[in-house]
Amino acid sequence: MSDKRIGIIMHGVTGRMGMNQHLIRSILAIREQGGVTLKNGTRLMPDPLLVGRNAAKVEELARKHGVQRWTTDLAAALRGPDEIFFDAASTQLRPKLLKRAIAAGKHIYCEKPVSTTLAEAKDLYAAAKKARVKHGVVQDKLWLPGLMKLNKLREQGFFGRILAVRGEFGYWVFEGDAHHSQPPAQRPSWNYRQQEGGGIILDMLCHWRYVLDNLFGEVQAVSCLGATHIPYRWDENGKKYKATADDAAYATFRLAGGVIAHFNSSWAVRVRRDDLLTIHVDGTEGSAVAGLRRCYTQSYAETPKPVWNPDIPQPINFFENWTEVPDEGYDNAFKVQWELFLKHIVGEGPFRWGLLEGAKGVQLAELGLKSWRQKKWLDVPKLKS
Ligand SMILES: NC(=O)c1ccc[n+]([C@@H]2O[C@H](COP(=O)([O-])OP(=O)(O)OC[C@H]3O[C@@H](n4cnc5c(N)ncnc54)[C@H](O)[C@@H]3O)[C@@H](O)[C@H]2O)c1
Repeated sequence: MSDKRIGIIMHGVTGRMGMNQHLIRSILAIREQGGVTLKNGTRLMPDPLLVGRNAAKVEELARKHGVQRWTTDLAAALRGPDEIFFDAASTQLRPKLLKRAIAAGKHIYCEKPVSTTLAEAKDLYAAAKKARVKHGVVQDKLWLPGLMKLNKLREQGFFGRILAVRGEFGYWVFEGDAHHSQPPAQRPSWNYRQQEGGGIILDMLCHWRYVLDNLFGEVQAVSCLGATHIPYRWDENGKKYKATADDAAYATFRLAGGVIAHFNSSWAVRVRRDDLLTIHVDGTEGSAVAGLRRCYTQSYAETPKPVWNPDIPQPINFFENWTEVPDEGYDNAFKVQWELFLKHIVGEGPFRWGLLEGAKGVQLAELGLKSWRQKKWLDVPKLKS
């Protein structure tokens, strides 16, 4: 068996997503397992080059994880022979960075959203197509065990005709006011500043776009109401700032095929549900509720028959009569998508989760924000491939 090295310039890996999900849980995990095995038995071995502004931070990260190569010189990295450029830095920087990498002939892989505007997202797709480089955008939720179970149920026809899909996403993100003994915020402060690419509509509607498109039907129209429930927060340095971005979104979608979807997304809710994200699907023949990993079904035969009577304690335990879908052994969602991308780069297998799909996510977010501003339903036009 032979090894084939594949060089990846990794930018933004000192951040939350870049470090945990992409460097540690994906690229280093792939290295540890001995690479990605190709059909002919060759093992494709990713070789990361970590790039960041702060030499001390990048060096420390590289040393801690035994990564040989790191630099603060992005231009030199782009001039070098590595085939792939990956970016997980904050969203607003992304279009410029990707443009540079495309111009340098690199294949592109990046976090979502690909940009903060549809115009930029379309421009990136056009540039990548013109340069004939391969491209991929993270759509991690598609490989979450809970969602894979939902997809399988749908393929098996378990739901009958799907009527509606309801998503509940969110948890309390602490404001971070140390003077009032609050714990520090568990998300970066730029997420709450519109001028820095923050906002839950931009962040989450691009996820809901690919989840809905792939599992339940293409999104055709959107109505979205946003809110900034928490007006002030405290940043990484303990400094108070004004939250200028939306921290909650109440969005309804009409899908091709007639399914109605409604997703609540909020960083100002307390969780009393199975998981931080739950997706509840109701069909004529059965229903299912998926969290990130687990999924429960209720068939027609298992459906209880409630009768409205507020004068007696509820006689039915509605958490009974649900059957858990068994696990089939799933890998980390980010890693699974990375492996597919790496295979695609060396010509093995298609990869349809590219910059056009990324642009569709930004399109829905942009329309969601517009719908909120204009207080009306908006159609989602098809994007040209
Ligand atoms: N797929 C998902 O589920 C998911 C979840 C969270 C975030 N994200 C996306 O990942 C990206 C990063 O989010 P995060 O939560 O990790 O943010 P973060 O703030 O933790 O990390 C941002 C990274 O960008 C770097 N950076 C910031 N400004 C820079 C500059 N001017 N030049 C060079 N580097 C700079 C930081 O040093 C850091 O490494 C965002 O686009 C976000 O939308 C995706």
